[in-house]
Amino acid sequence: MTTYTAADADLAIVRAKRVAIIGYGNQGEAHALNLRDSGVTTVAIGAREESTTGEKARAAGFTVLSNADAVREADVVVLGAPDEKLPEIYANDLAPNMKRGAALLFIHGFALHFGFIEQRDDLDVILVAPAGPGTALRANYLNGEGYIGLIAVHRDASGGAKALALSYGAAIGLGAGMIETTFREETETDLFGEQIVLCGGSAELVRAAFDTLVNAGYAPDLAYFECLHQLKLLVDLMHARGPAGMYQAISNTAEYGAYRSGPRIVDAHAREQMKEALADIQSGKFAHEWMNENACGLTEFGRMRERAAAHPIEDVGRRLRALMPWLGSRQQ
Ligand SMILES: NC(=O)c1ccc[n+]([C@@H]2O[C@H](COP(=O)([O-])OP(=O)(O)OC[C@H]3O[C@@H](n4cnc5c(N)ncnc54)[C@H](OP(=O)(O)O)[C@@H]3O)[C@@H](O)[C@H]2O)c1
Repeated sequence: MTTYTAADADLAIVRAKRVAIIGYGNQGEAHALNLRDSGVTTVAIGAREESTTGEKARAAGFTVLSNADAVREADVVVLGAPDEKLPEIYANDLAPNMKRGAALLFIHGFALHFGFIEQRDDLDVILVAPAGPGTALRANYLNGEGYIGLIAVHRDASGGAKALALSYGAAIGLGAGMIETTFREETETDLFGEQIVLCGGSAELVRAAFDTLVNAGYAPDLAYFECLHQLKLLVDLMHARGPAGMYQAISNTAEYGAYRSGPRIVDAHAREQMKEALADIQSGKFAHEWMNENACGLTEFGRMRERAAAHPIEDVGRRLRALMPWLGSRQQ
């Protein structure tokens, strides 16, 4: 596995390109602002007619056009719209209008890897994926710390695809480390991480632990503090030092309890379930189920959202967070 830095990138490559970014959301906004601040002079934003973020892009001084018009002259087209919408956007707006020999740049490989996009043969197809949200990418660009991310080349039609990926990556602020990977590896590990730990497993663990304490007669406020609020402190420690480093910063009692009860919760059955979830990702079962849910109007997704929002931890959390106004300023 090779990791590149800013020293391996030639910024002049992307500075000479006309870039179109489809969407000005979490990633699109950060990419657009960082590219501009890195000396890329032509950055247009593609937006749908009813777009609200298009207004934000206009206010930031970018040219905002329909997707079709934004990509017509572009050398690099960046896909900053939601993954589930990319197949339709590509088929209707991009494929018929992108100029020959341009580059199609993904921020996440979902739509390409699972076969929802049939790229034209003349296009370079690359991936530049920051390892985190656009807000952090922008903040680290501004404070000069830089950020890390992944790059991959799916098709090198021009012979310069990798150099372009490195140049683009450095321009958006990934000069601290660009790890070379494949679309398959980026997509499958990203989905696994978010489902099992970051978004799925962690939230479900918090709710289940909260329910366990409350059902046993403990005060919901304490259950919230012990099972959710304090999680951030430990995650910050793990983030900075790894699990073993986190253990060094807690009491011996907490550490002993962790060794005793952690494996009891994430037991052989949980590990087997992780393998099954990974198999669903690898086979494309999850991807097709999600695209099908979109095609069917997101009814089940809506029900899932309602169920999650109705959990008692939400009311308790709203009330307690109102006592801690400082949390709002730290949400990003
Ligand atoms: N968020 C992250 O932390 C993160 C991290 C790494 C990679 N990524 C990847 O980055 C990509 C973008 O994700 P995101 O989280 O930045 O998305 P997002 O915040 O949901 O923003 C999506 C943007 O696309 C626009 N959009 C929606 N439909 C559109 C259409 N038909 N035509 C043009 N624009 C359209 C939206 O604008 P309107 O709604 O105003 O029209 C919005 O500006 C995805 O591939 C994602 O997997 C995200």
